[in-house]
Amino acid sequence: MAMPRHLLRTLDLGPADLTRLLDLAAHLKADPFSRAGVLRNQSVVLYFNKPSTRTRISFETAIARLGGTPIAVGAAELQLGRGETIEDTARTIARYARAFVIRTYSDQDVARFAAASSIPVINALTDRHHPCQSLADLMTLRDRYGSLKGRRVAYVGDGDNVCHSLVEAAAIAGIALAVACPRGYAPAAEIVADAQAMARHTGATIAIGDDPAAAVAGAEAVYTDTWMSMNVPESERAARLAAFAPFQVNAALMARARPDAIFMHCLPDHRGEEVTAEVVDGPQSVVFDQAENRLHTAAALLATFCD
Ligand code: CP
Ligand code: NVA
Repeated sequence: MAMPRHLLRTLDLGPADLTRLLDLAAHLKADPFSRAGVLRNQSVVLYFNKPSTRTRISFETAIARLGGTPIAVGAAELQLGRGETIEDTARTIARYARAFVIRTYSDQDVARFAAASSIPVINALTDRHHPCQSLADLMTLRDRYGSLKGRRVAYVGDGDNVCHSLVEAAAIAGIALAVACPRGYAPAAEIVADAQAMARHTGATIAIGDDPAAAVAGAEAVYTDTWMSMNVPESERAARLAAFAPFQVNAALMARARPDAIFMHCLPDHRGEEVTAEVVDGPQSVVFDQAENRLHTAAALLATFCD
């Protein structure tokens, strides 16, 4: 099966696509300029309607390594902000660029861009998905453990975009994932159902619960994310801090995982909220390996989708 044309969510990829991308990312990590011709004389447009450090800088660097030119634009800079339609914007950009990388709020908006676009559209984070992050997460797990099938991973905290993409990635990769979220903050049921359908083919198991200690028991990796994603209104802060407090990843919770378990976080983190400094700055933390792997997986994605 050919790669999908666009990457809007992790489940757009099948197991073979995922293996191919992770193999290429590993190759590019070892030999970063070996695909330097893929984007020669071409540009890639990056549209950011939310802040970004890792995604923007890793994609721009990846494009440079592939021989191309990144054109990054903010929300206020396009005519889109003055009412030009998504479809006309997509059709215009496709006349110039080789790919379009989008970070925004609405998944429906990204789907409209993709539907109108003759070039690959890559979701660089929406309210519901963060597929690029999940590729780097799988690469980090593979770097550490050598293989993904049957690995025991726990996600503790908000059932947000990063959680959704991890659930989907685990399903594709055959991972045993245990998720623990407070009631009312679980991952979306339809995303979990889609992941379960994939899991039936790969042998993955996806367990959704509300007990952090049970989720991390025996885990080889413990993952968390902010309790206040960029799409969450500030007015929810107090209620969220209260609901999520028992879900903090601290040394006591890490002690329930395997002794050699890694700690994972997409970053940016909020020390003292979803994770303590002793964990994120401690010897089990691989958060900067994840951040580095954003670069290699972004390069692999573009090299594959634009070749
Ligand atoms: N993990 C991640 O997507 O980071 P940025 O928001 O800095 O891009
Ligand atoms: N869940 C976070 C991820 C940031 C990279 C957010 O959406 O803000």
